[in-house]
Amino acid sequence: MVKSKHTILVTGSNGQLGNELKRLQHEYPEFDFIFTDSSDLDITNKESVHKYINRVKPDITINCAAYTAVDDAETNASDAMLLNGEAPGFLADATSQIGKKLIHISTDYVFGGSGNTPFKENSPTNPNSVYGKTKLIGEANAMKMGNAIVLRTAWLYSSFGNNFVKTIKRLASSNYEIKVVFDQIGSPTWAHDLAQAVLAICSAPNFTTGIYHYTNEGVCSWYDFALEIVNWYNYSCSVIPVETSSFPRPANRPAYSVLNKNLIKSTYGLAIPHWKKSLQCCLKEIE
Ligand SMILES: NC(=O)c1ccc[n+]([C@@H]2O[C@H](COP(=O)([O-])OP(=O)(O)OC[C@H]3O[C@@H](n4cnc5c(N)ncnc54)[C@H](OP(=O)(O)O)[C@@H]3O)[C@@H](O)[C@H]2O)c1
Repeated sequence: MVKSKHTILVTGSNGQLGNELKRLQHEYPEFDFIFTDSSDLDITNKESVHKYINRVKPDITINCAAYTAVDDAETNASDAMLLNGEAPGFLADATSQIGKKLIHISTDYVFGGSGNTPFKENSPTNPNSVYGKTKLIGEANAMKMGNAIVLRTAWLYSSFGNNFVKTIKRLASSNYEIKVVFDQIGSPTWAHDLAQAVLAICSAPNFTTGIYHYTNEGVCSWYDFALEIVNWYNYSCSVIPVETSSFPRPANRPAYSVLNKNLIKSTYGLAIPHWKKSLQCCLKEIE
């Protein structure tokens, strides 16, 4: 039987990125999409992963599933390790056994956060949280069979689920002032743009395996990010810049986690929107 369309399997599709991929599926009629959540396909179950992938035989598997509760990971390290660290290896084994491809999503938290120039794909990693450590192990496991692209991203937000943008909107609408850290620097990323990038890779003639970085263009602190949100809504709430030490959290956050995106731009010809422009698009949607 001749297969006319390529099949894309998305795991963990109830999250921010998964929902954005669902939204974009109609723009890609050349693909048959299969969206799974943890009840359809639990990627921590090695046997289920092999059975599912053998049955469906997806041309490309996009893994959006992850243990993303960064603070909880500090006390649930074994759960985080299974989902972030080991499960990408199950996907790599199963997809490579049928000669197919894997796109796995990783994070800026693989970097420790010291530095002042954007991290390249081959910059030394040095995670300082359980989340970052487990995601770094997941990268290696995803790539061990040589059939994977690992896409590191950062500061994801969207109109789906809970995220920084929605938290700031909620707090600023009901408080006269909010405090936000100014000494953590990165690049916000609209999950919609990341989903576009993932699908651009799926559509490209070349599937060049390895690690890539993708965030929106531009750099800011969480304080700048919050201020932009509050100003967009015209809330009268004041945004007060504070140091990270004012907000002790179980997990360490990288102080500097800007990613250099030249490789993905040159390999896949991507034009990446600036974070402020994408934030406005997302805020209009949330409205
Ligand atoms: N959020 C960020 O700021 C950020 C930053 C950098 C990188 N990333 C990375 O970007 C990727 C996407 O993040 P996101 O924000 O879209 O994540 P998300 O919204 O937290 O979604 C993660 C999804 O994983 C699913 N999941 C959990 N356990 C599973 C299992 N055993 N099997 C299958 N699915 C399972 C969850 O489904 P259930 O609800 O059914 O459990 C959830 O829908 C992740 O790899 C994350 O590490 C995120």
